[in-house]
Amino acid sequence: MTPSLQNWASGVQRAVEDELAARLPAAGTAPVRLHEAMRYAVLGGGKRVRPLLAFAAGELAAAPQAAVLQAACAVELIHAYSLVHDDLPLMDDDSLRRGKPTVHVEYDEATALLVGDALQSLAFEVLAAPQAQLDAARQAGMLHLLARAAGSHGMAGGQAIDLVSVGQALNPAELEFMHILKTGALIRAAVRLGAWCGSALDAEDEQRLDHYAKCVGLAFQVVDDVLDAEASTATLGKTAGKDANERKPTYVSLLGLPAAKELAQELRRDALAAVAPFGDRAKHLMELADYITHRSF
Ligand code: IPE
Ligand code: IPE
Ligand code: MG
Ligand code: MG
Ligand code: MG
Repeated sequence: MTPSLQNWASGVQRAVEDELAARLPAAGTAPVRLHEAMRYAVLGGGKRVRPLLAFAAGELAAAPQAAVLQAACAVELIHAYSLVHDDLPLMDDDSLRRGKPTVHVEYDEATALLVGDALQSLAFEVLAAPQAQLDAARQAGMLHLLARAAGSHGMAGGQAIDLVSVGQALNPAELEFMHILKTGALIRAAVRLGAWCGSALDAEDEQRLDHYAKCVGLAFQVVDDVLDAEASTATLGKTAGKDANERKPTYVSLLGLPAAKELAQELRRDALAAVAPFGDRAKHLMELADYITHRSF
């Protein structure tokens, strides 16, 4: 991250961390073990990329911070739930996440299952909470959008494809479809929700922003595939080399490392071109596209 992006991002990350800590059930409240595990899964880790994207998109639409914060936390809660379930033995069977033992290792599998369930519910509870700066119809639209992005036409659907694709050679269109669903859908939702918190964009601007979000969402998973093959477990805070070991179809297995990296850069250029007409209002969106496609973890 460039120092200027880092400076802005730290402020957003702090605000998100504080808000998540406040919205999660207190650790001492019954059922204590579940609430502790929910806090363990969400707090004190993660890059918070989806909230950052929501805030950057919010800037484009001059959105009030409180509304964006609510939407950003809702998306991050869905993301955190998806990671807890992704790591379960019946899915990717991972023991390390964000530099700590995964939830089912630290607690147990049933608790991890319930943590995911409860975080998903909490996401919608947070997004549905009364918000002075959003009218009810807008809020209903946002709930609909997040529900769709998390479900079988979005993240959960992509995860289903991921599971049945183990050991298979997907063609480029199939791999793109899987990645767009499992990772792209939630990133696209983060961007759209952030912008929806502000003044309405016209149809053409909305489409530019959505094109940016689609490119960045796909690029994010392409880079995740590259890092799985190239980075170390210590740097990633999750087990490196898993995709090849588990025979997952990825952009690295389909194209090889150099071409996968080049694809991420193509998507970055495409994303930047989409929001270039916004000029300075898209400054953080552009910087985030650079960061997402050049990150090292
Ligand atoms: C990891 O997401 C899972 C994917 C969708 C690729 P992140 O790389 O955003 O994970 P955290 O939140 O920073 O831990
Ligand atoms: C996960 O993709 C996508 C999710 C919806 C959680 P991966 O399985 O590649 O994510 P990591 O590498 O475990 O973070
Ligand atoms: Mg997975
Ligand atoms: Mg995984
Ligand atoms: Mg991965």
